[in-house]
Order: sequence, then structure tokens, then C-alpha cells
Amino acid sequence: MKGLILSGGKGKRLYPLTYTRAKQLIPVANKPVLVHAIESIRNAGVEEIGIVIGQTGPEIREAIGDGARLGVRVTYIEQPSPDGLAHAVKISQEFLGDDSFVMFLGDNVIEGGISKLIGDFTHSGWNSQIVLKEVKNPSSFGVAKLRPDGSIEQLIEKPKDPPSNLALVGIYMFDASVFKAVNAIQPSARNELEITDAIQWLIDHGYSVMPHVHEGWWIDTGKATDMLEANANLLDELKPSIAPDAHLENSDIDRRVTIEAGAHVVNSIIHGPTIIGEHTIIENAYIGPYTSIYHHVTVQNCEIERCIVLEHAEIMDLDERLDSSLIGRNVSLKRKQRKPRTITMNLADHSSVWLV
Ligand code: TTP
Repeated sequence: MKGLILSGGKGKRLYPLTYTRAKQLIPVANKPVLVHAIESIRNAGVEEIGIVIGQTGPEIREAIGDGARLGVRVTYIEQPSPDGLAHAVKISQEFLGDDSFVMFLGDNVIEGGISKLIGDFTHSGWNSQIVLKEVKNPSSFGVAKLRPDGSIEQLIEKPKDPPSNLALVGIYMFDASVFKAVNAIQPSARNELEITDAIQWLIDHGYSVMPHVHEGWWIDTGKATDMLEANANLLDELKPSIAPDAHLENSDIDRRVTIEAGAHVVNSIIHGPTIIGEHTIIENAYIGPYTSIYHHVTVQNCEIERCIVLEHAEIMDLDERLDSSLIGRNVSLKRKQRKPRTITMNLADHSSVWLV
């Protein structure tokens, strides 16, 4: 069994953060989304992982390297342009060989592990198993129609009249028969080789495709609000700890807070679940629940809640509480110390600001 993680794509819905950074490297609970994916696969006992990369490939290679640090062996597969999930499978044939594999979208986060799933598939003799999740708005997803015996009869992309409320989650398992499918299908109207078309091809040609209905949460971190939700869910699961060399002074820190090495917390209140990154400085501040502050950030004289703050940001002297925000690397967010009290901004393309 091998793993295949798809980390190409553009990440347009997360502009401006993803202008300069691969979306799979944005941290949730202070760990890149892609690292969560690698750990899920590794924890299920699969150590040979291919990562499909696109234009953000160099950054992903630099962050993950050969995978040894995470206990896996990584092979990079370059996809010249994001021509679809089935295209990503097609170009990975040499890496995958005749092995069965689990395919994971590198921007998805799922609760709990995938060990049971992989175990079921390995012992089943099925050609494919796909993960489904009950959703409230199936018309926005790829939806599965099941046969009375529980196998999948049809996959329908964004159906007007959904045959079920079971949507495709970004986790799929295949044996080598999938290569027949990805080589047989044609590009869709949006000019991509669609994985739903490949799976439908398998079904139509008599291969067994079984569902696994996932009970826990699952989040596709495509948009900023999804990132914040994934962050909140992962913080809920995080086992709190305080690094021995963290400097804590005159502060109230509740038991659901994680503080990483070298952080300074002075005259502050921190309510968990929250994580404060390495060498970050929190001073005269309130940090509310569901906040992840990455490494080398400075937060002084302000209040923050339910935010993700990336490395080397500085947030200082705000009068209003900063809430439900994604703050990028090296961002400086400060109140002016001198008059006139005007608003001054240097915003990147596609930035969003909400003023009170
Ligand atoms: P998507 O979220 O469908 O696409 P995207 O990353 O381009 O995002 P956006 O719509 O915001 O522009 O992709 C899901 C995952 O699969 C993501 O991790 C990128 C990856 N991917 C590939 O590796 N190759 C591809 O050809 C496509 C379409 C996606």
C-alpha cells in the first residue's frame, strides 16, 4: 500500500495568502495542513508516499524534504498544470506501480485516523473504496447514489436533485485497475480529468467500488472560514502542553493552552484551546479560544480570538478585539501612535479588511 497526496493546484479561493504560499503549507493548530495529511497516512502504517506538486512545488519540497523527519519516504511527482485529480493519478503511475494506494487531497483535514479504512480496504478485495460524508447541502458536492447491496452505483457532480446526502470526501482508495479508468476517460467541460469520471468508469466496467461513510468531521480547507473551522476542530483535539523553557510571567493560562518552546507570555490572559508558537511574544494581551499563533509572532496590548496568525506577524495596540481573522506572514497590524488618527494600509491584491 502506498500513499498519494495531491498538493498541486492554485488555491485561488485563499488569495492573498496563497499568492505567496502553497495552501497546503498554511498551518492549522501550528502544523501545515499537508503535514496533518502525511501523519494520517503514516499513522495508518503507510510509509511510501508520493506528493503531486505544481507551481508551488519548490516550497513544498523545502518544507517536507525526503519525509524522514515525519517518518515517511516521500517521492515528488510534478504536475505541469492542475489538469484534474484523475490527471494527477495518471502521472503517478510509475511511482504507484501495481500497488494499491490511498489518495488524499493535500488541503483536506479529517477527524481521527484512516487506519480502519485502510485495513478494511486491504482485506476486502475491492477495486476501490471512497470516503463519503453526510452533508446538509449535497447539491454543492459530488454525491453518491448507492445500490441496495451498499455498493456505489453512480457519482453525480453537484446534482440539482441529489439522490442522497452522501458527499465525496477527498480520500479515495484504489488498486491498479484505476489506471485503465484514468487512461480511458476524456477531459470534462472544465477541461480537467475528473476523478468522479474515473470512478464512474470503474463502476460501469464492473469493478467493485465500495463506500465508507465517515462519522467524524471533515473539512476541505479551500476558503478562509474553512481554515478557521479546521483550526478550531484540531485545537479541540490537541493534547495541551507547556514547553519547559517557555517564559510565563504574571499571566493566567488555562489548562487547554499549548505553549511551544521559547515563547514569552507576560501580563496576559490566555483561554484555550489555543496554541502559542515557538519564540512568540505575548504581552499585555488577551488570547481567546480557538486561536493558533505561529512562531516568532509579537502580540502586544491587544485582544485576539479565533484567529490564525502566521510567522513573524506583529499585532500591537489595537482597541478592538481581532476576531475570526487569518493574518499572513510578516504582517504588521498596529494602531498609530501619532495624530492624525487616519487609517493607513498597505494591502496585497485580494486582501479583505472589515472595519467597525
Ligand atoms: P482544489 O481545491 O479542487 O483546487 P485548487 O487547489 O486549485 O484550489 P482553488 O479552487 O481555490 O483554486 O484541489 C484539491 C486538492 O488537489 C488541492 O490540494 C490541490 C490538489 N490538486 C492537484 O494536485 N492537481 C490538480 O490537478 C487539482 C485540480 C488539484
